[in-house]
Amino acid sequence: METRVIPVDREHLQENDFAEAAKLLREGELVAFPTETVYGLGGDALDPDASRKIYAAKGRPSDNPLIVHIADVNALTELAQEVPEKAWELAERFWPGPMTMILRKKAIVPDATTGGLDTVAIRMPSDPVAAMLIRESGVYIAAPSANASGRPSPTTADHVYEDLNGRIPMIIDGGSVVIGLESTIVDLTGETPMVLRPGYITIEQLREVLPDVAYDPAVIKRVKDETIVAKAPGMRYRHYAPKGELTIFEGDLDRVTARVQAEAEAKAAMGFSVAVLASEETKDRYHGLTVRSVGGRDEEASVAAHLFATLREFDRMGAEYIFGECFPEEGVGQAVMNRLMKAAGYRIVKV
Ligand code: TXA
Ligand code: MG
Repeated sequence: METRVIPVDREHLQENDFAEAAKLLREGELVAFPTETVYGLGGDALDPDASRKIYAAKGRPSDNPLIVHIADVNALTELAQEVPEKAWELAERFWPGPMTMILRKKAIVPDATTGGLDTVAIRMPSDPVAAMLIRESGVYIAAPSANASGRPSPTTADHVYEDLNGRIPMIIDGGSVVIGLESTIVDLTGETPMVLRPGYITIEQLREVLPDVAYDPAVIKRVKDETIVAKAPGMRYRHYAPKGELTIFEGDLDRVTARVQAEAEAKAAMGFSVAVLASEETKDRYHGLTVRSVGGRDEEASVAAHLFATLREFDRMGAEYIFGECFPEEGVGQAVMNRLMKAAGYRIVKV
């Protein structure tokens, strides 16, 4: 299959920019498109065959449910069996935006889309390209991140092309995404609202609307512990991971950088290809090594925006060992460290 890449200018979207993409979606085909978080691989959420195509294109296990993207809050009542007051309050405050809710599904949402669960994940994205595509197509768009399963999520159309070229008919290229990490997921199906995946919307922000919201234990774990099973099936898989072995170092920054330098040098001396994941403040402290900065240590948003692209760059370089610093867990820093720890398979060294 030939994959066409269609550039759009998100500042000046035209009515007919999405005519072909919308038609493909209505016909049950797949289209990758930008959202404010990461690129999504979209298909008609109510068409089980379209969902099956999504799993096939990504090489994703079919028990890992998809997020259904909507362009109008009223879609909640069409997709969810009961919409609790808490859901309307969250929607009012955070939609459109990088927040996904889990609710009990109605029968029109096929099992193929929810991985057989009786719940459905719903999000109303704020990116104008995503919003317009949903409106133009007239379908709800099921969209996981548009990476091949297991790889870091795509933050540019090039990343999508790298993973899915030849597997899908179209990629809409709207440039780099703004946020760079996937949405915050809140499960509203239990007694207590639970954050299943941290994202740009922090738990502190959620608490302003839902004071009792809590983290799923799997979100805050810092060790590989098989007894803590994530409630979001997708958070159980090895994920976001570069091909090389990533280890992250935590503690006093001077000691961290000294240790990273020593460990990286030792592997390089053995002939391995080595890379360092650093910050603006530390990048010049390393010598004789391949170093990439993901941003300033107090600029969590910058770190979030550059993390996945940097992990992909390490893959392209063929890095076999990657040594990285921990980042402050302020604001979106929580989500950054969640992804980084998963990418590292919880190989965290305290120094
Ligand atoms: O920002 C995002 O959320 C992006 C963009 C494209 O919207 N999408 C995204 O989708 O990250 P995906 O499929 O890569 O991640 C969806 C996560 C998975 O961990 C999945 O297990 C979880 O959401 N999920 C989906 N439906 C669920 C459900 N009914 N119950 C629990 N977890 C669910
Ligand atoms: Mg994903």
